[in-house]
Amino acid sequence: MDAELLRQYLEFYQDLGIRTLYRQVGQALPPANPNPNPNPIPMDLPPLAPTGDTLLKIIEDIGDCRRCRLSEARNKIVFGVGNPESPLVFVGEGPGADEDAQGIPFVGRAGQLLTQMIEGTAKKEGIELLRKDIYIANVVKCRPPENRTPEPDEMEICGQFLHRQLSVIRPKVICALGGTAARALTGHKEGVTKMRGKWFKWQEIPVMVTYHPSYLLRPYNQEAKREAWEDLKKVLHYVYD
Ligand code: URA
Repeated sequence: MDAELLRQYLEFYQDLGIRTLYRQVGQALPPANPNPNPNPIPMDLPPLAPTGDTLLKIIEDIGDCRRCRLSEARNKIVFGVGNPESPLVFVGEGPGADEDAQGIPFVGRAGQLLTQMIEGTAKKEGIELLRKDIYIANVVKCRPPENRTPEPDEMEICGQFLHRQLSVIRPKVICALGGTAARALTGHKEGVTKMRGKWFKWQEIPVMVTYHPSYLLRPYNQEAKREAWEDLKKVLHYVYD
């Protein structure tokens, strides 16, 4: 593998929030010198975002995906929804039961709260904005069993598709909903309470971290709800002012 390709892969992994790479036993390291190994063993790497990529091509590449164990129990792959030219993209963790049944992100209770938050906050702030105007996607496209947090390898495998979606849309701002999305997009490992309300970057695109709407549904999290509304206000003014 030449140095330029290796650099592109490392940048790609960094964008996925991956900070440590392990070499599988029996796999060759890329040659460190300019004399290429005559019999290189190919490293099993995911494809980089192709040039001229489109959301349709990504859907085609996902196909009837069996790349990780999350495919075993899923009903529908939940790719993403909304306006692909939106300057604002929300990224959640992964589909729940309702999303798995319908194939659309954020349609269950958490989704209804997210819709209310987006549309309600926009209206209050004098911004004309409906949910259909923005784009919503998840870190993993298949429902984790019992709604468990996605495992690092699942995030790594499926993260390449989120990476491609964001590279195609290239919004003005990304809003990470909850810790999993925040980790996947920023690579930071702190809890969401520490990260929320702050700006990070994904490939030069500002990322605001806030609470996941499922967390806000719990009745004892009213203070967090207020904070999430504040975070959303910041995002909406940044994008639409
Ligand atoms: N939670 C998520 O993170 N994503 C969804 O699509 C639904 C619930």
